[in-house]
Amino acid sequence: MDKVFIGTNWKMYKTIEQGKAYCQTLNDIAHNLDKRIQLFIIPSYTSLIPLRQEVDSSRILLGAQNMHWDDEGPYTGEISPSMLKEIGIDIIELGHSERRQYYNENDQDLNKKVLAALNKEFIPLLCIGEKLEDKEMGISKESLSIQLKIGLKNVTKEQVNKVLIAYEPVWAIGAGGTEAPSDYVHVMHNHIRNVLIELFEEEGKDIPILFGGSVNRGNAIGYLEGKNVNGLFIGRSAWDLQKFEPILHDIEQLLKR
Ligand code: PGA
Repeated sequence: MDKVFIGTNWKMYKTIEQGKAYCQTLNDIAHNLDKRIQLFIIPSYTSLIPLRQEVDSSRILLGAQNMHWDDEGPYTGEISPSMLKEIGIDIIELGHSERRQYYNENDQDLNKKVLAALNKEFIPLLCIGEKLEDKEMGISKESLSIQLKIGLKNVTKEQVNKVLIAYEPVWAIGAGGTEAPSDYVHVMHNHIRNVLIELFEEEGKDIPILFGGSVNRGNAIGYLEGKNVNGLFIGRSAWDLQKFEPILHDIEQLLKR
């Protein structure tokens, strides 16, 4: 494995002060960490400007949790690509299942956001995942294919090397979620890889595919052992650095194998 992306979405948690304290410790941890581990954090909007200064930009990428596709307009409550560019954001997380579920985000709108992010030279992190009912109906792979094909429509082969995919089965996310078995995750990542190759040929082989949903110290390495698992997108187990640091050291050991 040449590079592994390990990141965390803070959702609607952590104040600026809590975020600063987190970043100071994470900078120290990152300093001595295997350079093949690419860390990223995705705080809430109000923390982005103060944390831009806090985070060691050579080791930790900074992301936003959402973005509108237009550069300006009458869209109360939204944040535009130019606004995020102005403050030096690296990654734009798009289509997290909570956004799809509570704010009705759909694949067509997410596609506009992916294209807007690429046009502004951000790294779009497109989140996809099947719902429990899809899994029970035996259509998980179909659901993932649809989300990828619509979400990445009109992305060119030249642009796609900037894209990150996070596979997060909706039924595995959050405190009420069920941990996904690692062999299931590996099968789904292989499927996602095949769809990416179908869409982008050679270029599809190198798009990083991260796994997320109840990742913890007990299951992280098992997931990463899948050949098409190129990183982890972690919620609860990364918000507390006492839990996150041992996971990072386990990953370092895995990279030495
Ligand atoms: P979790 O969150 O690790 O707490 O399940 C994952 C996510 O929502 O991305």
